[in-house]
Amino acid sequence: MDTLIDKFSAENISGGELKKYFIMPQERTAQEEFCDKVRTLLSSRFGGSPKAFVHTYGCQGNVSDSEKIKGQLLKMGYTFTSSPEDADLVLFNTCAVREHAEDRVLGNVGALKPIKEKNRDMIIILCGCMMQQKHISERIKKSYPYVNIVFGTFAMHRLPEMLYTVLSRGKRVFLTEESDSRIAEGLPVCRDRGAKAWLPIMYGCNNFCSYCIVPYVRGRERSRLPGDIIKEAKELVSQGVKDITLLGQNVNSYGKNPDCSVNFAALLREINNIPGDFIIRFMTSHPKDCTRELIEAMAQCEKVAKHLHLPVQSGSDRILSLMNRKYTREEYLDLIKYAKSLMPELSITSDIIVGFPGETYEDFKETVSLIKEVEYTSLFTFIYSRREGTKAAEMEDPVPYSEKSKWFKELCDTQEEIASKRTASMVGKTYRVLAEPNEKEGILSGRTQGNIIIEFPGDESLTGQFLNVRVTKALTWILCGELC
Ligand code: 5AD
Ligand code: SF4
Repeated sequence: MDTLIDKFSAENISGGELKKYFIMPQERTAQEEFCDKVRTLLSSRFGGSPKAFVHTYGCQGNVSDSEKIKGQLLKMGYTFTSSPEDADLVLFNTCAVREHAEDRVLGNVGALKPIKEKNRDMIIILCGCMMQQKHISERIKKSYPYVNIVFGTFAMHRLPEMLYTVLSRGKRVFLTEESDSRIAEGLPVCRDRGAKAWLPIMYGCNNFCSYCIVPYVRGRERSRLPGDIIKEAKELVSQGVKDITLLGQNVNSYGKNPDCSVNFAALLREINNIPGDFIIRFMTSHPKDCTRELIEAMAQCEKVAKHLHLPVQSGSDRILSLMNRKYTREEYLDLIKYAKSLMPELSITSDIIVGFPGETYEDFKETVSLIKEVEYTSLFTFIYSRREGTKAAEMEDPVPYSEKSKWFKELCDTQEEIASKRTASMVGKTYRVLAEPNEKEGILSGRTQGNIIIEFPGDESLTGQFLNVRVTKALTWILCGELC
């Protein structure tokens, strides 16, 4: 029987307030018509199928976007290749979160120039967060004339129209305005993760952490409607997907824009109620919006992995305030304490930034003491990267990079000790994991609920099944095991 939630879907919207959040069906039809035109054009130009090379930089949100880009390319008649030399279309979906990621993209775009000189009809497309920044799209326009299409994070659903313009008129296309941040439901998705799937539940971010470029390039927070999410989750389960990760910059504030009358805790419970043997993961959570109600839902929902990725960024209240994180060290630790009291086996991971402008060694030491107190399973650690246009970019940053690198190493060494202790304590225990392929011959991988990898001997035919694996040996970050 359908619940109220099932009916709350973008398909049922014909007008009113919600209209401004979603691409309307007639616009989707227009893109489908462009899709048909591109397919016809391509089949007259190429005997067989043209080939596309798609490369994704950055976070899971980008990977999920690329699945929709690939879905549209497939629909237009492309197949995929793993080599740009072999491709008729090369697309880079870019990341802007740190300078290093941007440098890599520009280096790789430069490397396409000689390839395009050999294949003049090759179409080069750059999209994603980096392209949403005006100074970058202008630089591409001026200095990289061989790039055919540039679009930002808001125009993905118009790929057929953009490609048609290039193929039929040879014109360059730049679509990087933020004027339209509506959600496009119903795009085809090309998933290639076997029994695992990403499921975006919201886009954008309202938090403006002072170091972060994301709110500027991904726009304001907006949620998909619960009916659309549940429908997609049900489809995934019926297709045999056994590990679903719900995605958003801040999943804890799900359902506010538009007001869905369903918060994240309620959404988790609804997905947990879908019949079937599967596991639910989610990321990322912002501590300021992580409620006790959510922690209770996590503890009570048997399908929800007992893993909480709760980025703290810093252990110093002074730095947290400069970062505009809107919680204190004590509030964060209280939350962790509550979560551990309900789920003693809970695995906690975090993101940490070292060397935020004005951070002193004393501030940094507070981060070290916090990670010792929480005993994280693992950390994603970053040295602060200055992002033009953010608040932190204007702050004094007197500590040299070489000093920050030393602090960074100290942090990594501390975490390595914590992680080794944790993995060593898992030896002899049995975990139920989803078997995944591994590069090594005759070996399979699985992830515990807490997201620690176990490698074990097993036949490839077992991939996609839940198996019980006993841990026989612990390395620092991963475990070795055997099938029970
Ligand atoms: N410098 C370094 N790390 C950053 N992150 C975001 N912006 C920056 C930056 N300017 C990190 C944060 C965030 C993760 C996704 O990337 O830790 O949680
Ligand atoms: Fe960036 Fe903060 Fe938003 Fe995360 S919550 S995307 S760190 S602004």
